[in-house]
Amino acid sequence: MKYRHLGKSGIQVSELSFGSWVTFHTQAGIDSTVGMMGAAYDAGINFFDNAESYAGGKSEEVMGAALKKLGWRRGSYLVSTKLYWGLHESPNEQNTLNRKYLLEAIDGSLRRLDLDYVDLLYCHRADPSTPIEETVWAMHDIIERGKALYWGTSEWEAADILSAIEVAERHHLHKPVVEQPVYNLFQRHRFAPEYERVYDDCGYGSTTWSPLASGLLTGKYNDGVPSDSRGALEGLEWLRKELTNTERLAKVASLKPVADQMGATLAQFSLAWCLQNPRVSTVITGASRVQQVHENMKALEFVDSFTPEVMREIDRVFGLV
Ligand SMILES: NC(=O)c1ccc[n+]([C@@H]2O[C@H](COP(=O)([O-])OP(=O)(O)OC[C@H]3O[C@@H](n4cnc5c(N)ncnc54)[C@H](OP(=O)(O)O)[C@@H]3O)[C@@H](O)[C@H]2O)c1
Repeated sequence: MKYRHLGKSGIQVSELSFGSWVTFHTQAGIDSTVGMMGAAYDAGINFFDNAESYAGGKSEEVMGAALKKLGWRRGSYLVSTKLYWGLHESPNEQNTLNRKYLLEAIDGSLRRLDLDYVDLLYCHRADPSTPIEETVWAMHDIIERGKALYWGTSEWEAADILSAIEVAERHHLHKPVVEQPVYNLFQRHRFAPEYERVYDDCGYGSTTWSPLASGLLTGKYNDGVPSDSRGALEGLEWLRKELTNTERLAKVASLKPVADQMGATLAQFSLAWCLQNPRVSTVITGASRVQQVHENMKALEFVDSFTPEVMREIDRVFGLV
């Protein structure tokens, strides 16, 4: 495993990391989670991602219980959570980054994770209805109170990130240091030119999500939706539509020979592709079982195999040349 600095911050994250969305609680109980987190940690992963909203808070509980069983030294790993959607139906606790919500929600997350602090705390989405000053001050105060060490944004527009940094600098507050954007062969828009200032000038890091487009980029949906896959889960009909999109499936099929040529599985190929981007600090992987963790960790062997010829092949598949 190699480690990359989270942008210009002092903290280093493993090139591959591990997240809990959809899987923890819904597909994996505590024992299965212990197995997957253990396999990831043994492979050198030091960053585990979570969010208040995942499985309505249960994902944090499962991760907390798993960490207790695993008993790792706290200094050896990083945990994140994300706030925005909220767990309670009331005007001040949903779809918001207001001060009251943020200061109360972090306490709930820490209780469920059974941790004294999270290493990274994200604003899970931007909230145009709360003044940016209020959110930046609240995140600063959470850090000052020792409940988080660093803070960041997720799926924010570049202009909003720049504005948060500017507010923090003006008031000498803790600045956000990291964005958590979607990033995979199909979805690349969060590294569009307007983000150059964020990454290159401001030294933002990135912890990218859904590197396999929820499993589509493993090729497993090319023969229909497997009954034991994310695409078959109840309540994820919106995602099933994307996983069975014929145009996307055709592109996955065309990538297969390129991955074969490299000696990688499609999953390994797609994960390694994300790490080609030097603005990526870590690729957050997901898995529903230990075998997937083992397969995905081997992606690291292919990071240096993306020659200009391979990149041209990929561009051809996506109609970029
Ligand atoms: N900030 C945000 O808004 C946001 C949003 C989404 C996710 N995230 C973070 O990013 C993490 C990763 O996202 P993701 O789970 O969508 O990642 P992903 O890599 O796109 O999808 C992971 C899923 O693909 C399937 N899979 C993974 N490896 C496989 C393999 N080798 N062979 C076959 N199937 C495989 C598994 O699902 P099945 O086995 O069930 O099919 C697994 O749960 C999340 O856990 C979360 O921490 C953040």
